[in-house]
Amino acid sequence: MSLDLDFVRSQFPALGGEWAYMDNAGGSQVLARVADRVSDYLLTSNVQTGASYAPSQRSLERVSASRGAFARFMNCDPGEIVEGASTTILIRFLSEAMTGRLQPGDEIVLTNVDHEANIGPWLKHEARGVKIKWWRCNPETFELDLADLRALMSERTKLVCVTHASNILGTINPIAEIADIAHAAGAELVVDAVAYAPHRAIDVRALGADYYVFSVYKVFGPHHAVMYGRRDKLESLDNIYHYFFDKSRVPHKLEPGNINYECAWGSIGAVEYVEELGTRSGASAGRSAIEAGFAGIAEQERVVTARLMEFLTSRNSVRVIGRTSTALEDRVSTVSFTVGQDSSKRVVEGADKAMVGIRYGDFYARRLVEEHGLLPQDGVVRVSMIHYNTVEEVDRLIAALEPAL
Ligand SMILES: Cc1ncc(COP(=O)(O)O)c(C=O)c1O
Repeated sequence: MSLDLDFVRSQFPALGGEWAYMDNAGGSQVLARVADRVSDYLLTSNVQTGASYAPSQRSLERVSASRGAFARFMNCDPGEIVEGASTTILIRFLSEAMTGRLQPGDEIVLTNVDHEANIGPWLKHEARGVKIKWWRCNPETFELDLADLRALMSERTKLVCVTHASNILGTINPIAEIADIAHAAGAELVVDAVAYAPHRAIDVRALGADYYVFSVYKVFGPHHAVMYGRRDKLESLDNIYHYFFDKSRVPHKLEPGNINYECAWGSIGAVEYVEELGTRSGASAGRSAIEAGFAGIAEQERVVTARLMEFLTSRNSVRVIGRTSTALEDRVSTVSFTVGQDSSKRVVEGADKAMVGIRYGDFYARRLVEEHGLLPQDGVVRVSMIHYNTVEEVDRLIAALEPAL
């Protein structure tokens, strides 16, 4: 299913400028319709929710509509959607809400490929006697081996926390299989889907994740984030809001303070955009449109990734950090590499001059970069493309990188 790239790019006003944006894993460009909705919310319905007067009811309807849109996006119920400022915040809140159920001697499995957002919040339970077990990737291939996870599980394992796609490697992890392993041991699964959500349709039911979080500002929207939690799981979490909030008050007991209403309303534009991509390709509205929309997105991303990967693997000086396969099931369009022992900062400078936005560093997956000795060379060079990137843009990047490689 090929995308109508002219239509796609016309939806993002920033793409009309001179820059090629290939730092999308840091944050994507924003849809015009998202910005319009944010503005419309602020200018026409910015009152506090929960009162009996009509504008307040309207405001509540708008915020509730965002839960409906995210439920369609992830294939769950609106009552299973928790919203917040960022993924980092939502996982911190989730961790706090698990305090009551994590006892000394209980175990949490973490990976060394995750972004720190899905590591740091869990480590704080160590101080209360909770044991952390590390699921480490193979140091040569950067692959997480399911056999290693199985070996780590015990009857005291309460949680497995893992990323759906690495924000450095681009590798897609087999979440449904990981969920089976976690559940077989009686543990729950927390998935950081930030680096996955812009690239593929999400079906939390099929994946079997218990908690699944991503950031809307990487999915064509505003600085906002969403967490799916299975309804019974959300109900059993501690209340982290005011003392008079009942445990059953989901999602509000997990949204201390107010969520950002204008971003909630604005985010619906991102969901509707993917649906529109789907209906333009012939799918019927709703869930099937989301799946069809992402099928087109994934295919365009595969094309640009293949182009870049072909170039990178043809250079002797380049080491791709992660898989070199560009098959849809293997990776998303985030590609990282190093050039011999060269500074990654220096490699990126060429792209800056050619007005192609890429970046270098550890991308807060610090443990992955540090443990594999990549910090002294300023981390890795990361090119993170999404569906609005074109083959011409990749060629511009290649031409800019070539002298340094
Ligand atoms: C894989 C991954 N997880 C978590 C985060 C943190 O997201 P947020 O900025 O919404 O806290 C990022 C941000 O780059 C990320 O790439």
